Amino acid sequence: MKNILVTGGSSGIGLAIADLLTKEGGYQVISLSRSQAKIERALQEKPGLKGKVDFIKGDVSQPTDCKGIFDVINEKYGKLHGLVNNAGMLTAGGIQDIGFELWKENLDINLNAPYLLTQTLLPLLINAKGASVVNISSIASRVPGRSIAYSVSKAGVDMLTEFLAGELGPYKIRVNAVNPGLVETHLHLDSKVVPSQEVYQQMLQKSEPKYPIGRIGKPDDIAEMVHFLLSDKASWITGSIIKVDGGTTVFNEILPKKLS
Ligand SMILES: NC(=O)c1ccc[n+]([C@@H]2O[C@H](COP(=O)([O-])OP(=O)(O)OC[C@H]3O[C@@H](n4cnc5c(N)ncnc54)[C@H](OP(=O)(O)O)[C@@H]3O)[C@@H](O)[C@H]2O)c1
Repeated sequence: MKNILVTGGSSGIGLAIADLLTKEGGYQVISLSRSQAKIERALQEKPGLKGKVDFIKGDVSQPTDCKGIFDVINEKYGKLHGLVNNAGMLTAGGIQDIGFELWKENLDINLNAPYLLTQTLLPLLINAKGASVVNISSIASRVPGRSIAYSVSKAGVDMLTEFLAGELGPYKIRVNAVNPGLVETHLHLDSKVVPSQEVYQQMLQKSEPKYPIGRIGKPDDIAEMVHFLLSDKASWITGSIIKVDGGTTVFNEILPKKLS
């Protein structure tokens, strides 16, 4: 049995990862997030995960919580075969919109937390003698998106990934990042980037034509890649930053839309 910690495993992409790994078998998923309300929402969306996923509570951006998470996993499992740094937040706007406190909060959750958690859990990852760390970044790390704080934090996650892959390879720890395009989750509504479900659906519809594959992403699209990167099938892949984005970053509006 491989023990995998998925941060933000109570919603969206993290929940899909928890669900897929549990269905595949051979994985004990530990899901880490802050609010009980989202854990309950997750169990309503995926009732089959009750009693199978170990839902624990904590804030990834807080050093004391990270130490507490180390203690819990160390005591219960003794080693960690996989860490998916997935928890994230998004505040829309540029330098004229985002005040310093919100800037810091985005950087704390999206970038400082993967650093802190990986550092804190390193002894448990080393104990696994062949662990995999997957950082959920974004295509916004490559192309400025809706938020300066988000794009900058995700660009940092990509470099963190490359640096750690070089540093931790000798411990047989692989480190990779996934850059999703737009995926339908609770992120934009929970982070109040959009005011309502109606506006969110309009945003998805407006974005769809920019996806050559013809649709917005589903959380399962990302979960499949994460599952592969956690598995031994990816044993020679490290330091890679992999787009899973329906082709939106290669979208070219001057090309004809469809072959007749
Ligand atoms: N959806 C997209 O279009 C998209 C695109 C590219 C990349 N991504 C990335 O994918 C990742 C997952 O996003 P999602 O779309 O699945 O969002 P989501 O549905 O809003 O889920 C976010 C999860 O993170 C948890 N979380 C947030 N802050 C936390 C903290 N400080 N400590 C612990 N847990 C925390 C949330 O639970 P609590 O609030 O209860 O803690 C929730 O479980 C993020 O890193 C995001 O940047 C998303």
